[in-house]
Amino acid sequence: MQLFIDSADVTELRAAAASGLIDGVTTNPTLIARSGRKMKDAIAEICSIIPGPVSAEAVATDVEGMLAEGRYLARIASNVVVKLPLTENGLRATQVLSDEGIRVNVTLCFSAVQALLAAKAGAFFISPFIGRLDDKGVDGMELIHEIRQIYDNFGFSTNILSASIRSAEHVRQAALAGSDCATLPPKIFAELYKHELTDSGVAAFLKDWGATGQSIL
Ligand code: E4P
Repeated sequence: MQLFIDSADVTELRAAAASGLIDGVTTNPTLIARSGRKMKDAIAEICSIIPGPVSAEAVATDVEGMLAEGRYLARIASNVVVKLPLTENGLRATQVLSDEGIRVNVTLCFSAVQALLAAKAGAFFISPFIGRLDDKGVDGMELIHEIRQIYDNFGFSTNILSASIRSAEHVRQAALAGSDCATLPPKIFAELYKHELTDSGVAAFLKDWGATGQSIL
């Protein structure tokens, strides 16, 4: 499963990229606003840090506006993926941009039938929001299972990009459900390394090793 970082903070992204384990980045208008930077500058720098897909979201709500913004964003760098909302206009724009060879990440997906439409529209990524469904008392992970089954039933190549991830447990379950990718806040990515038995095991080995008085080199 590919791991993306959900952030527009270049300091955070450089730190995560240093792991060598990051395959892409997702941003949204809230994250760009939080960065305090101009969209074009932020996306250009992020694309230079991470060579994989970098999602940049259009904010227009009409088809022509989405197309104009999408084409503009796609010209910033070759690894930009245009992010569009799962609305009727968003899917119309998805079809046009996909036909032009621009990859589209259809975002704000909350149901399996929405994901079916996005795949039919030619989306490169579908972003189901797990955490926001959980917040509503609905099992977000069940949506990932349903989309996986539907895409496999009909051979859709749209990549499932599990989003709104709130925990390492979400990552585990998304991987088990066959999600192609997951996008994580940097804090959750850092948590994936951790296990208390790893920490205590390292401490015990070092204690025993120290008692030998040896050094390997
Ligand atoms: C992904 O593309 C979204 O930007 C992100 O996962 C949303 O997460 P949130 O629900 O925690 O804001």
